[in-house]
Amino acid sequence: MITLQILLDTANLEDIKRLNDLYPIRGVTTNPTILARENTESWLDLLKNIDDILCSEQLLFAQVTASNCEDMIKEAEFLVENIRKDLYIKIPVIPEGIKAIKKLNSMGINTTATAVFSTQQAVIAANAGADFIAPYVNRLDNIEADGVSVVRDIAEMFKIHNIESKIIAASFKNVNQVKKCCLAGADTATVSAELYEEAAAHPLTDAAVEQFKADWKNLYGDKFMYQY
Ligand code: E4P
Repeated sequence: MITLQILLDTANLEDIKRLNDLYPIRGVTTNPTILARENTESWLDLLKNIDDILCSEQLLFAQVTASNCEDMIKEAEFLVENIRKDLYIKIPVIPEGIKAIKKLNSMGINTTATAVFSTQQAVIAANAGADFIAPYVNRLDNIEADGVSVVRDIAEMFKIHNIESKIIAASFKNVNQVKKCCLAGADTATVSAELYEEAAAHPLTDAAVEQFKADWKNLYGDKFMYQY
């Protein structure tokens, strides 16, 4: 079952390990840019290493690099065979990508329609059988469009027409965009490690903890409760 639990949009193994240890991470999303950013010899080993960090309930996403349906299908089959059977294959919503989503859906392979910038693209990809739709929020904001409104429209459209595809909002540059998208009806969101940590932290929490520590130490010293 898909919940609001947020995913990490990174292939950095240290960040994934550290944040997965601390937080309830829903899974990890990648794309060719994210994999290339890690500058490793083998992108396949990198994806396998990410898979090793995650448990089987957590989701993993990898994107095809081909631009034609035939090669997208071959890449998808290769990824599923070599990484995990329930891998979510990300396919950009170009015409050949929509064709590939239809085929992969009929083959029982999980898909995510990615690089979505409009409600119509989202509806077409959902009809093709995409499990997730990934609208690019910050890239919309950067062209003076409204990423949150696009997410809201997609969510409303899916609700009105009983469309089962889930919305995984993507491309974020700040925590407020993530919050607004989740309130606008996104099923989940994928964010950088940096943004996840910013969302989790609050200076007033840190200040409260410092006060608790100081008051306790003042009367009882440095021992933990179990040390008495
Ligand atoms: C995730 O699916 C997308 O590939 C990613 O969020 C794009 O983010 P960017 O706009 O920061 O590159």
